Amino acid sequence: MKKTIFLLGGTGFIGEQTMHHLQSENDVEVLALARSEKSARKIKALGATSIFGDMLEPGEWQKQVSNADVVIHIAQPETFGARITKATAKEYEANRLAMDYNLFEALSKEHKTKLVYVAGNSYYGETGIGEPKDENMKPCPTGFGPYITKAVNKAESLHGSNKEVIVAFPGSVYGQGSWLKQYFLDPISLGKPVMQLSGPSHWISPIHVDDCGRALVHLALRVKAELTNERFFLVDDKPITYKDIANGLATILNKPLKIKTIPGFLLGLFAGQIIRSYMETDSKYSNAKLRLTGFEFKFPTFEKGLKTFQLE
Ligand SMILES: NC(=O)c1ccc[n+]([C@@H]2O[C@H](COP(=O)([O-])OP(=O)(O)OC[C@H]3O[C@@H](n4cnc5c(N)ncnc54)[C@H](OP(=O)(O)O)[C@@H]3O)[C@@H](O)[C@H]2O)c1
Repeated sequence: MKKTIFLLGGTGFIGEQTMHHLQSENDVEVLALARSEKSARKIKALGATSIFGDMLEPGEWQKQVSNADVVIHIAQPETFGARITKATAKEYEANRLAMDYNLFEALSKEHKTKLVYVAGNSYYGETGIGEPKDENMKPCPTGFGPYITKAVNKAESLHGSNKEVIVAFPGSVYGQGSWLKQYFLDPISLGKPVMQLSGPSHWISPIHVDDCGRALVHLALRVKAELTNERFFLVDDKPITYKDIANGLATILNKPLKIKTIPGFLLGLFAGQIIRSYMETDSKYSNAKLRLTGFEFKFPTFEKGLKTFQLE
């Protein structure tokens, strides 16, 4: 029998890749929430059925959610573009909780549902510069982390009879959009300087957006969370520094690299305290648990993923 999968956030940066990879799965029917005509067209083009609705408002969409076998929640309130201050992050937290509330209210008590909830590695935050840490590390949230903690706890509290919950914590998801475009690709392509913090360059744990979408499909269809909820880091094999990201991109794009080094307090003024907090964090996570489930990366390192920029 066909499994019904309901996606929230299927038109976003990670969601599009997830829908794309769901297309090659057999025996699934994919529904995705659209809050505009534009999003509905995107969903159709990705081979899924669009359901109209806005997660901030209760509505007919909740009936479809309640009948789904698998719910993949990748939606988030808008975050990019402007300075990200603590006030912006608080608004993000409130909107995210309001969106999640309408989703969780919709999940029927009688119907068995698996929820794949997408959070972010900022929930775990600072790891130090030693060996990559696994999902059992004590969270030390940075960036948006403190503002998604309540949401993750609420999602995990659903786990129990008839509800299976997996929380995915993607690392720094890179591709032709999101943070990599805003802070690295656009300035390097336009010959503008890339901002870097003074002092040693910090570590992040990247994952190519294509692998992130594939990993979410893998968790949704091939991994079980029976006894307790499960958490997975979605990161590739090798953490990398911001400096090495900038160097790698400049080389592949064949552009000279201009770096503007600024102290943390100036970055805070310019880009907001949340971005400053991200850039001052060392985030070295391990994918050992994900790999144990049999997941294979197409781009196991940033160096391998860089090739996709050369072709585009
Ligand atoms: N990007 C990263 O590097 C990264 C890293 C780690 C974790 N994550 C996490 O991954 C998740 C997705 O990130 P992303 O970068 O793919 O996000 P994104 O590109 O900003 O996409 C957000 C999605 O949410 C939808 N959405 C926003 N408000 C909505 C509402 N009120 N009702 C219904 N849908 C709504 C958007 O729909 P429209 O198309 O209609 O706007 C869009 O599909 C987030 O939880 C984020 O924290 C991202």
